[in-house]
Amino acid sequence: MAKEINTIGVLTSGGDAPGMNAAIRAVVRKACANGKKVMGIRRGYQGLLEEDIVEMGRESVSDTLDKGGTILFTARCSEFRTEEGQKKGAEICRQYGIDGLVVIGGDGSFAGAQKLAAQGINTVGVPGTIDLDIACTDYSIGFDTAVNTAMDAIDKVRDTSTSHERCSIIEVMGRDAGYIALWSGIANGAEDIIIPEKYDYDEQSIINDIIRNRKMGKKHYIIINAEGIGHSTSMARRIEAATGMETRATILGYMQRGGNPTCRDRVYATMMGSLAVDLLCQGKTNRVVGYKNGEFTDFDIDEALAMKKEISPYMMEVAKDMSK
Ligand code: ADP
Ligand code: F6P
Repeated sequence: MAKEINTIGVLTSGGDAPGMNAAIRAVVRKACANGKKVMGIRRGYQGLLEEDIVEMGRESVSDTLDKGGTILFTARCSEFRTEEGQKKGAEICRQYGIDGLVVIGGDGSFAGAQKLAAQGINTVGVPGTIDLDIACTDYSIGFDTAVNTAMDAIDKVRDTSTSHERCSIIEVMGRDAGYIALWSGIANGAEDIIIPEKYDYDEQSIINDIIRNRKMGKKHYIIINAEGIGHSTSMARRIEAATGMETRATILGYMQRGGNPTCRDRVYATMMGSLAVDLLCQGKTNRVVGYKNGEFTDFDIDEALAMKKEISPYMMEVAKDMSK
């Protein structure tokens, strides 16, 4: 028989993402609507092990829907990667009466949720990462805000690059994934997009392309470089030396993770947070919420973590055609 859940815990873990607050709010309000008690665990698994746990009522999430960051704070916790840490975490959940837990984060955080589920705590993951690198879902909370922030910043860099007739290498986040780079590259009309999934390290072909564009009278050359490739400053030096075109590197950095969530992030976070609570109330465990083929749905965490995600070759092809 499915375990009845009385108290739902919620935590955010890994890198923060705009919309995490909207997801926390959805968990709290949906759980309250179902007559459940909610415990907020601050600073992810680290806070769980340190018992940094507070009760949350409906009003505790007022005025948070539109705020970036996470009111529960977030952390990375190496102790939780050990079996001892996971056992301790499960024991603390039991002490606080937490029989269901919503984990908002990325793949690493889901691996933690999987371990807690194995220790008897019902868990559901909600995808929250700007990187869009979670294979089971077409969308993860924070991506839309991050990519819009990057797009606005790149527009500005492009203006000054054109005025000075420069080449600009703009490095965006994404850890090992190139989604932010690909999307902002298309949105900003970049001449080149370098992503870890596809880069062949043929810098000479970029140099040849810059020289060809220059001869055709192009005033700037924008390269979006994913952080998974990195080394934008040294790349800029080499490109300038080889092409004679002044070249500057801009690393956008943490600004991409902050700011008020877009409408899309607020709505997806609200839907996903609510679905996570519904799944727990149905007695489900070891699940992760996703958005696939136009539907909000859920997957087994083991299966979700084994899935692979591919960058669309057609998006890459189109991006290339746009810059020819
Ligand atoms: P994300 O969730 O964004 O992928 P991380 O990979 O940094 O971020 O993972 C966040 C946290 O999840 C880690 O600091 C750790 O506490 C926990 N975690 C990650 N991998 C595992 C694992 N294999 N087992 C248990 N906990 C893990
Ligand atoms: O996962 C989100 C992310 O912002 C990645 O894009 C980036 O590689 C990483 O987190 C940075 O993490 P930290 O905050 O530990 O520097």
